Amino acid sequence: MSEPLVTGQPMVCLAALHLNLASTAGEVNILRGIDLEVAAGETLGVVGPSGSGKSTLLMVMAGLERPSSGRAQVAGADLGTMDEDALARFRRDHVGIVFQSFHLIPTMSALENVAVPLELAGRPDAFTRAEAELHRVGLGHRLGHAPGQLSGGEQQRVALARAFVMRPRLLLADEPTGNLDGATGRAVIDLLFELNAQAGTTLVLVTHDDVLAARCQRRVRVEDGRVVS
Ligand SMILES: Nc1ncnc2c1ncn2[C@@H]1O[C@H](COP(=O)(O)OP(=O)(O)OP(=O)(O)O)[C@@H](O)[C@H]1O
Ligand SMILES: [Mg+2]
Repeated sequence: MSEPLVTGQPMVCLAALHLNLASTAGEVNILRGIDLEVAAGETLGVVGPSGSGKSTLLMVMAGLERPSSGRAQVAGADLGTMDEDALARFRRDHVGIVFQSFHLIPTMSALENVAVPLELAGRPDAFTRAEAELHRVGLGHRLGHAPGQLSGGEQQRVALARAFVMRPRLLLADEPTGNLDGATGRAVIDLLFELNAQAGTTLVLVTHDDVLAARCQRRVRVEDGRVVS
């Protein structure tokens, strides 16, 4: 479980952050000097055009991409100085991620999918906790279903249960309703904000939807690898 943060310390602090990635066309400068702080417990909406670097920004916050230069401090950890093992532990202990496509393991049941992070962390009560978490997202009656036997909204709720079962300090959501219809999407979003309100989880939400972004306490716009407003 995550320890409480030192009061006053931001959950996310990015400073002069650059990220270059190799592509077939040579090295691409994807993030070009990002300065961004997210307070503990805050909800932040990230908007901006396609290809501007929103998903990449989340990858850095999640410890999935290491900054090429600049500083990335998340939940008190300096991600730029950590090796792969340390980053993997950081992700396990502090971060929950929800993607547009649900990234569930197709051969596992809903219950097994949610139990994965708990089992990796060596929790003896993995299945009991996973079951409780699925009840919380309204899927107590679907524990044994494989992802292919669930609707899109149900799959996203399983993904949300899996992202939240370790009680991360930071929940990163990248277009979490992109594949869902209006009503189903709203239910998933309500759940995200509920987690923020109940557990004080910091929420960073990437979305194309201005209405959705407006539900966040603060919004930033990313353009061409920079935060412009
Ligand atoms: N692994 C990679 N290697 C090289 N370039 C990449 C890589 N991943 C992303 N890019 C490029 O980085 C830029 C930003 O991509 P990113 O996925 O962060 O954009 P986005 O703002 O999330 O867009 P969308 O709204 O379409 O999801 C794009 O131009 C993309 O082509
Ligand atoms: Mg994206």
